Amino acid sequence: MWPDRRLLDLFKTEHPIVLAPMAGVMDAELVIAVAEGGGLGSLPCAMLTAEKAREQVNIIRQRVAAPINMNFFCHEAVEPDPAREAGWRQRLTPYYQELGLDPATPVTAANRAPFDAAMCAVVEELKPEVISFHFGLPEPALLKRVKATGALVLASATVVREAVWLEQNGADIIIAQGADAGGHRGMFLTDKLAEQVGTFALVPQVVDAVKIPVIAAGGIADGRGIAAAFALGASGVQIGSAFLRCPESKVSAQARAALAQASDESTVITNVMTGRLARGVANRVMREVGPISPDAPAFPHAATALGPLKTAAEKLGKVDFTNLWAGQALPLGRELPAAELTRKLAHDAQARLRLMAG
Ligand SMILES: Cc1cc2nc3c(=O)[nH]c(=O)nc-3n(C[C@H](O)[C@H](O)[C@H](O)COP(=O)(O)O)c2cc1C
Repeated sequence: MWPDRRLLDLFKTEHPIVLAPMAGVMDAELVIAVAEGGGLGSLPCAMLTAEKAREQVNIIRQRVAAPINMNFFCHEAVEPDPAREAGWRQRLTPYYQELGLDPATPVTAANRAPFDAAMCAVVEELKPEVISFHFGLPEPALLKRVKATGALVLASATVVREAVWLEQNGADIIIAQGADAGGHRGMFLTDKLAEQVGTFALVPQVVDAVKIPVIAAGGIADGRGIAAAFALGASGVQIGSAFLRCPESKVSAQARAALAQASDESTVITNVMTGRLARGVANRVMREVGPISPDAPAFPHAATALGPLKTAAEKLGKVDFTNLWAGQALPLGRELPAAELTRKLAHDAQARLRLMAG
């Protein structure tokens, strides 16, 4: 009873609902629950070692017979720039002082590595049915190896130009990520924040520009949003924020409380947390230093100097320096077990689509 069956045929899932991969706030548990609800579970691997990714996939395989999407970042790795790092530390020094920390203490570098040959070998070994990339695609030789495993390749586009590029360069399915979306913007051919397109405007324009199926992402959090995405020509949806408050997510109690209090006006797009543009609930450092700061080092190095502040503040019960990635539809999310939420989303969307069909 879905108006477009292209994704169901490709993924072999019951519903064309993809759980967004959400690095840092989820693991196999949420993937399994969404798969049990009939959706496609996505495992965010951008912050995992090869061993951890293997362990997580094995847990999922043991618990459900369902396709898996492994998700990776493919940004261009940039070496830390000592002068910028020092300037950033200086900008954050008042917070270090407030928390009784020494800004000169060496800190562990932020861990978000791009997809590389070692991860590609893990993919060849584990053979996930689906692979999704954020920030473009890996270099052609790596992409060729990924495609040789038989995996379907998904990638995010934030403007029509990126969608066309992804189709021409080997993606099988486009994720059209509107500016309403939580988390990092998948931008890779543009860095112009003011020109980022909302989901409602982006999805139909991407659908018109490419031949491959399009998944709508950003601000979709209930049956109405899913039905709207289909009306705009999408073949499915990718949903993140609506699942954040499910018991299976790994969102901390403090962050959960901040997310629960958020309204439609609570999120902003910032570069201060990691050096790349991302949408989240505004925390203290985003408000006071950002939301956009020219001082933030390149991705992911801005996160390095924030690490000790985050740890120290969290010990005091504060989320002043914690990533609270979430999209504009966050308040529509429900605190339900994720399998139940997935079924409810599918049910409500189908009911609305039936109404629309008259
Ligand atoms: C907490 C959080 C973390 C995210 N992490 C990732 C990630 O690791 N990889 C990725 O491709 N997208 C990531 N995203 C973006 C999602 O793929 C997707 O575009 C977004 O969740 C859709 O918007 P919504 O949050 O309004 O549903 C993240 C989003 C959130 C909310």
